[in-house]
Amino acid sequence: MLYAWNYFQNQLQLIMTSRAFYLLAALVFLLPNGVIALSSPHPEHPRPQFFREKWLNLKIAEKLVSLASTRANFVPGAIWPDNQGVHINAHGGGIIHTNGRYYWFGEYKTGGPEGNTAMVGVSCYSSENLYEWKNEGIVLSVSDDTTSVIRKGCVIERPKVIFNKATGKFIMWFHHELFGQGYCAAMSGIAVADAVNLLGRDFSRGQMARDMTLFVDGDGKAYHIYSSEENSTTQISLLTDDYLSYTGKYVRAFVGRYMEAPALFKHKGKYYFMGSDCTGWAPNAARSAVASSIWGPWKELGNPCRGTAEENEKTFWSQSTYILPVEGKRNAFIFMADRWNPDNPIEGRYIWLAVQFDPAGKPFIRWMDQWNLEESFN
Ligand code: DGJ
Repeated sequence: MLYAWNYFQNQLQLIMTSRAFYLLAALVFLLPNGVIALSSPHPEHPRPQFFREKWLNLKIAEKLVSLASTRANFVPGAIWPDNQGVHINAHGGGIIHTNGRYYWFGEYKTGGPEGNTAMVGVSCYSSENLYEWKNEGIVLSVSDDTTSVIRKGCVIERPKVIFNKATGKFIMWFHHELFGQGYCAAMSGIAVADAVNLLGRDFSRGQMARDMTLFVDGDGKAYHIYSSEENSTTQISLLTDDYLSYTGKYVRAFVGRYMEAPALFKHKGKYYFMGSDCTGWAPNAARSAVASSIWGPWKELGNPCRGTAEENEKTFWSQSTYILPVEGKRNAFIFMADRWNPDNPIEGRYIWLAVQFDPAGKPFIRWMDQWNLEESFN
């Protein structure tokens, strides 16, 4: 019964978030009973009172058209339909920009509590504008073979893809846990591809790593940033030039601070970190930090959220996954976070908010019911 109600709500939200719905509704007010019909009334079929006021029809149609255009906005926490009208399924994800398009890779979640494990694999969506996403399918599938290291039901979380200019390969790293072993293995998975949609596989053990992200610096050096040592530290490891392994150079940051959900970006020569506390799927207060070198020292800047006390305490009921630099825009970064739904993971929502900077240059995030790339960065 609960699922039926959720399904009904989701379908309603899908309709309400589609442009077609608003444009069709606008037509209703302009066509047979509305503005256009006013010039050729049929006395034998009087229009309902509501439609007789031409100015009112026009006003309503105008409002509906403007609502249709506001669909080219981010609406944090709403159902986000892809090109097939289905809620995007790419949780804990990250985004790269290549050949004029953005590619969003994430965990493909399924329904029910088992959906917290990898029953399908890693999905990919592509977009030119960050608002409208085309489903590109599953780029890394779990296997039905029970001897496979990524057998169905293992854990594949927080996949991040980067492009290696020297080798021409797309490289995916993800947090990997072995089937049936909870979060004990704390391994890193690595997948390699010649093209975004054709991923081959290659796995190697790294250090103990759970929540993770990747960061490529301006000089092409790439780093794996991950919760290590039972989440008590965040380690930052320099990858080899092919991005397939560790060089052995790493730093233990935030020692004893127990963080998850690391995300990193660079702004005006400084490195900024955002992450979370460790409370499973439940939201908690975000953390932020700054450093002049990726090797530290890292200085904590506190909770980057600027909302009500409750919103700040729960990071707007979400947990960071990635900070995306907007292509072609200076100083424009998107804080990407997940609003998890562990009882029915497929219903998890995405909280994307503009990163803003205060006069001292400290990044912060505030809630926006809806926003767009043109107006929302300071
Ligand atoms: C919090 C992490 O951030 C998620 O990626 C996931 O591992 C959950 N913990 C599991 O409880």
